[in-house]
Amino acid sequence: MKHFINLKDIPSKDLRKIIVDAKQRKKQRKKLNTLEPDKGSPLKDKMLIQMFEKVSSRTRISFYLAIKQLGGGTLTLRPNELHLGQGGETIADTAKLLSTYGDGFMLRTNEDKKIESFKKYLNIPIINGLSPSSHPTQVLSDIFTVEEIKKKPISKLKICWIGDSNNVLDSLIAASVKFSFRLSIGCPKKFAPGKDVKDWVSKNKKKIFIYHDLKKAATDADVIFSDKVISLNDKVNKKRKKQQFQKFKIKKEIFNYTKKNCIFLHCLPRGDEVEEDVFSGKNSHVWQQALNRVHVQKSILLYCFGKLR
Ligand code: CP
Ligand code: NVA
Repeated sequence: MKHFINLKDIPSKDLRKIIVDAKQRKKQRKKLNTLEPDKGSPLKDKMLIQMFEKVSSRTRISFYLAIKQLGGGTLTLRPNELHLGQGGETIADTAKLLSTYGDGFMLRTNEDKKIESFKKYLNIPIINGLSPSSHPTQVLSDIFTVEEIKKKPISKLKICWIGDSNNVLDSLIAASVKFSFRLSIGCPKKFAPGKDVKDWVSKNKKKIFIYHDLKKAATDADVIFSDKVISLNDKVNKKRKKQQFQKFKIKKEIFNYTKKNCIFLHCLPRGDEVEEDVFSGKNSHVWQQALNRVHVQKSILLYCFGKLR
């Protein structure tokens, strides 16, 4: 049984296999309707249980479509509707119950350790649908999107992140090691990646490049990634943090420093870290990026269910 919790714990060759499978599946279903299953319905009659402790639009809908297109179904739970937490049923018992009824569990949570606790008691795979420290399904899908648009392995590209050191960046850093691409990060000093993350990169004999200057970070980039300055789990003075990021706002002038055909990606939802003319401009591929979540998550589900081709 394979879980999908953090990119750093998944072998590179498995991550590559997921991307290759997603590419083939996306191509093969060009003529199918939204809910028509892929040929052979590889997850026929399987049920994915999803639970969201935080709001979600894309992850929720894209996982629904992913399991449906593989021939299975999904049930979406909110924690305040369960005995877990409310009536005091333990994670251990809840996990056993989920394993009795379902075939896989996708969790978006406020606590990384909750994923580990569930994993301990589940007899079915668990997928991290965003936690404070990581957003692995998003970032693997983003690697797919970059390669789809650029028609090159990501290892041949210069990737730049402008923004906070948050869960999405942590997964992007893990991906930079797993897929061997150059990652430069532009952020204020106070919001740079922490020691643990940097130590993990060094332990893996790789480097990331951190600049406290937007132009330096963006120089020669093939891709600019960004995300909200204030994440769902952020308990900060929001007004102050936004002010601290003023110099890192993404405006169209950024493309004076990047490569000519540099693209802009953003996991969404957006805040005011990017100006409208970039977000909706010709370099932006954010809607294709959101759609690709479906395709890549299908292959992640197949990986977890032991059915990846
Ligand atoms: N990008 C992303 O995970 O979006 P949602 O929060 O809408 O799921
Ligand atoms: N960093 C953001 C990502 C949302 C998809 C958050 O955690 O809120």
